[in-house]
Amino acid sequence: MIQDKDISQIERLIELSETNPLLPDSYIPWDTPEEGNPLMPEDSVSLHGHPLYDELSEEQKRELGRREMVQVMWSYAWSEGLACIIFNRRLLQLSPTSLEYRYLVKELIEEFRHQDMFSRAVQLLNVEPARQPAWARMLSSLHLKFMPTPALFISVLAIELVTDMYGKKIRRDSQVYLPLRKISELHHIEEGRHIHYTKLWLKHYLENIGFLKRTLYSLIVMGNIWFMRSLYVRKSSFQEIGVDKPDKFAKAARKQLHVKFADYCYDEAIPFVESFGGFNFITRPLWKAVLNVKI
Ligand SMILES: [Fe+2]
Ligand SMILES: [Fe+2]
Repeated sequence: MIQDKDISQIERLIELSETNPLLPDSYIPWDTPEEGNPLMPEDSVSLHGHPLYDELSEEQKRELGRREMVQVMWSYAWSEGLACIIFNRRLLQLSPTSLEYRYLVKELIEEFRHQDMFSRAVQLLNVEPARQPAWARMLSSLHLKFMPTPALFISVLAIELVTDMYGKKIRRDSQVYLPLRKISELHHIEEGRHIHYTKLWLKHYLENIGFLKRTLYSLIVMGNIWFMRSLYVRKSSFQEIGVDKPDKFAKAARKQLHVKFADYCYDEAIPFVESFGGFNFITRPLWKAVLNVKI
C-alpha cells in the first residue's frame, strides 16, 4: 500500500521507466566472441575454495562456470516469472488510474524484458539448463496459492536483494565475458528501482508488527534465499564436465557454497530483516543453520 508522502517518489520511478528504458537488444553486446573469458567470477563458482576444485582441469573449471551461470540465469528468469504472477494478481484488484497500477505495469514490462534477456543469455552460453527440481516447483506453487499478498511481495524483494548482490560480483569482475557483465549491469539499474518501490509499498505492512509476523516474515526472507541458492548447483553440471564421481563433487559444491555465499550475498537482505525486527531467539539460530549467517 502506497502512502501519500511517497507519491512523488513513485511518480519519479514511473518517469524513469518511461524516459530511461534499458533495452537488452541495444544495451547488451550480444555478438561479442567469448575468447576464453571466464563465464563467472572464479570465486563465485560453487566448488572454488574446496580441495576438489583443484582436481579439475582449466577447461573443466571454465565449463563448470558456464553451467552454473546458466542455472543462475534461468533461476532469475524463473523467479521473475513467479513475481509477474504475483504482480498480475495484484493488478486485477486495482484501478488503472491508481499509482500502484501504473507502477506495477512498468515493473511487469521490465521483468518481462529481463526474462527475455536471461533466456537469450542461456542460449548464448549454449548449454541446456537443468530443470528446477520437482520439490522446488511444488514449493513455489504452494507459496503462490496460500501466502497473503504482503508475504508474496516480501518473497519477491528477498530474491531481488540477493540477486542484486550476486550480480554485483559479476559486473565488477572485468575479466568476465562482456555480455554477462552488461546483463548484470542492466539488471542492477532496473532492480534498484523495483527494490525501492517494493520497500515503499511494504512499509505500511511492516510498521509496528508483532512478534509472530516479524518471525514469519524473517523466515520467508530466509526460505527464499535458501531456495534460490539451492537452484545453482546441479549434479548434471558435474556429469557434463566429465568428473568421475559427480555426486561427490555436487555434494562438496553445495557445502562450499553454503559457507561462502554468506560472504557477499546477504549485505542487503540482513538490514532489510533488521528493519522490521525480524531477528529473534527463534529466527537467529535458523538463519545461522540454514544460511550460515551470524547475527
Ligand atoms: Fe528483473
Ligand atoms: Fe525486479
